[in-house]
Formats: sequence, C-alpha cells, structure tokens
Amino acid sequence: MIICRAPINIAIIKYWGKLEGFESENVANNPSLSVTLDIDHVFTETKVHVSPGDGQVLFKLNNTLQEPTKRMKKVLSKFPTHEKKIFIESVNNFPTGAGMASSASGMAALVLALDKALNTNYEGKALCEIARLGSGSACRSVYGGFVEWNGNSVEQVFTANHWPELRCLLLITNGEEKRFPSTTAMQTTVETSDLYSLRREIAIKRIGCLKRSIEEKDFSSFAKICMQESNQLHALCLDSFPPIHYLNDKAFAIMDRIHEMNRECTIAAYTFDAGPNAFIFCLEENLFKVREGLRGFGEMIECRVGDGPIVTCTD
Ligand code: DP6
Repeated sequence: MIICRAPINIAIIKYWGKLEGFESENVANNPSLSVTLDIDHVFTETKVHVSPGDGQVLFKLNNTLQEPTKRMKKVLSKFPTHEKKIFIESVNNFPTGAGMASSASGMAALVLALDKALNTNYEGKALCEIARLGSGSACRSVYGGFVEWNGNSVEQVFTANHWPELRCLLLITNGEEKRFPSTTAMQTTVETSDLYSLRREIAIKRIGCLKRSIEEKDFSSFAKICMQESNQLHALCLDSFPPIHYLNDKAFAIMDRIHEMNRECTIAAYTFDAGPNAFIFCLEENLFKVREGLRGFGEMIECRVGDGPIVTCTD
C-alpha cells in the first residue's frame, strides 16, 4: 500500500480558461503562478492499494464509496491497471469543492500515489502532465515553493524557503460546495466575456512583475499584484453571461478590511479562487495584527510555503 499526501496550491496569477483546441487536456490559455502551501495543515491524503484483478477500480472519497470520476479515469488511463484491482481512498482534511483547490491536491496525490504503487517511475514532467489531465491547477501541486505553469511546462521558480517570512492565512467563510464548477465556469467566460481577450497579455505581464517581487521579497508589490489578480478573476466571472459569482458578503467585507488595514503601509493581501474562502498573505512580523484585524470572519488556518507532496507509507 502507498500513501501520498499532496498540498493545495493557491494561484497568485490565476489560470482561467483553456487554450482553444486543447480543452480536453486542460492546457491553459494563460500562464499562471502559484504558491504551494505546507502539508502540515491542508492536504489530500490518498492511499492506493493494488492487488491482482481485472482492471476494477474502487474509490472512496472522504470515507464514502463512489464511482471514479471522468477525470480520474483520464488519469488512470495513463497507468498500467489491467490485471489489477486498484483501491483508492482519498481524504481531504479541509472542505472539498469549496474553491480551496481540493481538485489540485486531490489529483496530485492520486497521480503520485499511482506512480509509486504501480512502479511507473514517471519523471516530474510526465507526472505534471498527467495531473493536469485530471485538473489543470493540479500540475502546480506536484512541486513545492513558487510554481509557474505555462502551456506544457511546469517549473519551480523559487524554493519553499526562498521567502521564509511569508505566511498564508486561510480564512474559511463558507465550506459549502461551489455553485459554479470551475471547468464549466471558465468555459462560459472564454465563450462570452468581452473582457477575456485581454486576459492572456495581462497575465503574462503580471507574471514578470510578480517574479521580480518574489525575488526581491518586496511584499508591497507582491500584495498589489495578488489582489489585482484576484479581482480580475472575479470581474471576468461577472462579465461572463450568464454571470458567475463566487464571492459572498463576507468575502467583500474581508477585501474592504484589508484595504483599510493597508492604508498606511501594505501588510496583507487577499486572493480568492473559485469560492468565497480567502487566502490572506502577510509577513510573519504582521501576523498578529492581520489575525486581529480579521477576527470574526471565520476559521483561520495559518500556513507557510511548503515543499510539495510526500509519500508517507510504502508498505
Ligand atoms: C480559480 O484547475 O479547477 O483555482 O482544469 O477545469 O479542472 P480544471 O480547472 P481548475 O481551475 C482552477 C481555477 C482557479 C485558478 C487557479 O488555480 O489557477
């Protein structure tokens, strides 16, 4: 039996929309850059048990037996599963499908556990490509640190300990499953948003600036790009037709509160994926102030930048 733990990653430069003609392979229309969070707090743990059989796959998610999803089948098709029975058991220690990147950690954990359990020994590039087939953003959870995904290439651009003072607070405002699954939502944006034609160029420009801010550990530039990116994602969603909206009143109140806290000096930055749960970046020295400022909005989980997935059992 193999047990693999994979972390979530939070995109600073967001992936939103697939390249025309490559939708089924989840090739993104624009480059993205994310931070992999540590696996001490938020992770998917996936056990894979292989025995002789005729290709059956049993799948339990959060202790409930279910049919393997279409995405999982795509991933499984890249592994030699015939004449075997595969039992996959996956648990998220955080809300599933609530815009907290559970598909990223889930698919990354699945691919890495299958690779070990079936002895395929794929190299990093292949593992990223298979994870991407499951869910685009999952390819960035294969690595730790700061990870850039551009077309077929996924690479760590800075290690996890490059900026040790950086912290990410997860602020859970609503653990319910999202109303607009990202795959169909981003497709609606690509097909209907007039603003979307600007997206790729903006993401490319911002990625350059973001990398500079990380390299120089310039929190104020990092924070500005981070918040502008989040806002642009949600503006694109609202510009889609019919409109897509992930943010709730609490999420907007968090945004206002952070801009208030930043009035004199930038100490915090928010970013939201496809859900109302906030990811708040700050430096260690401002943690107390930021926590105090956000008290009352919901459960807070404090994370650091992490080293990426680990295999915890190889029995
Ligand atoms: C807002 O990776 O979930 O989190 O490739 O269709 O599975 P699919 O989409 P998914 O989309 C993630 C969108 C995002 C931004 C990001 O993680 O870059």
